Amino acid sequence: MAKRIQISRHGGPEVLEWVDYRPSEPGPREVRVRNRAIGLNFIDTYFRSGLYAPAQMPSGLGCEGAGVVEAVGSEVSRFRVGDRVAYATGPLGAYGELHVLPADHLVKLPESIGFEEAAAVMLKGLTVQYLLSQIGRFGGGETILFHAAAGGVGSIACQWAKAIGVRLIGTVGSPAKAERAKALGAWETIDYSRENVVQRVLELTDGKKCPVVYDSVGKDTWDISLDCVAPRGLLVSFGNASGPVTGVNLAVLAQKGSLFVTRPVLAGYADAPERLQAMADELFGMLESGKVKVEIDQKFPLAEAAKAQEALTGRKTTGSTILLP
Ligand SMILES: NC(=O)c1ccc[n+]([C@@H]2O[C@H](COP(=O)([O-])OP(=O)(O)OC[C@H]3O[C@@H](n4cnc5c(N)ncnc54)[C@H](OP(=O)(O)O)[C@@H]3O)[C@@H](O)[C@H]2O)c1
Repeated sequence: MAKRIQISRHGGPEVLEWVDYRPSEPGPREVRVRNRAIGLNFIDTYFRSGLYAPAQMPSGLGCEGAGVVEAVGSEVSRFRVGDRVAYATGPLGAYGELHVLPADHLVKLPESIGFEEAAAVMLKGLTVQYLLSQIGRFGGGETILFHAAAGGVGSIACQWAKAIGVRLIGTVGSPAKAERAKALGAWETIDYSRENVVQRVLELTDGKKCPVVYDSVGKDTWDISLDCVAPRGLLVSFGNASGPVTGVNLAVLAQKGSLFVTRPVLAGYADAPERLQAMADELFGMLESGKVKVEIDQKFPLAEAAKAQEALTGRKTTGSTILLP
């Protein structure tokens, strides 16, 4: 028997239950991992609230963790019992002492990266990898807009952008968060709770606006983001922290300057073991070089995941948050 967080219905943090469960034996291509640390992500709150739907109820929760391989399926050759591993692309169920998942979703952890660090950086860091390296493909010297720059994904993006010579303008919800994003490498910050973002972006870019805008806030910032993209530029809408963007009229892309829009997800980029490994190698390289440091600003016992989710959706967190089994 082991312990895990599960949900039997959608709702607020109160629907998270701390229960006993018996994990299955791994299937032929699966691995059972004993989690040492688990990553808290905004997507976990979407599966809880019902914005995204788990395949079945009751359901485990959480997509990201790091730990030690405890059992492997008969067809698994890349991993052995005792390997230190991490994962970020589900399936749901990371909020548990044990997690059974496809071997293709795992990467081995280099010795230099601890379990807590890995759980704090896998999902968010791989996301920044595909956002900046695969979607952005910057040469250096560009000025981009990145919303929620002091958050989990944002804290890594500030550092990564600086490391590749990209000037990141980060939006933030308070002066303390502005200071935080600046210290991590944001070129400039805009407090979107009190400043006019479009006007500030025009000032900071000499009227040119940004070739790429990264928007994970969603509903509240969609229109602002469109007005910050340079002609023929790209709006990357990759999250729904304030609610989903719906009912988009494509004509607006023509009116605002022949814009491009993409709505990517990590699983769509890390969709094969070799692609996942290549992305992880780049992320681990950034960590090992010291160009990106993992900011674990909050830790909660796994049993108190509801409190952790409340802090995240209440905009009380900065950097990464981990849950400890
Ligand atoms: N598509 C993908 O592949 C992918 C992968 C990972 C994450 N994401 C998305 O990236 C975003 C960041 O994820 P994260 O886990 O690192 O979270 P996070 O950035 O640590 O937390 C979300 C932040 O969004 C800001 N925010 C703005 N409006 C908000 C509202 N109405 N309610 C709550 N927060 C609001 C808050 O910062 P301020 O107080 O500074 O405004 C808050 O701290 C999420 O939208 C997530 O879904 C997408």
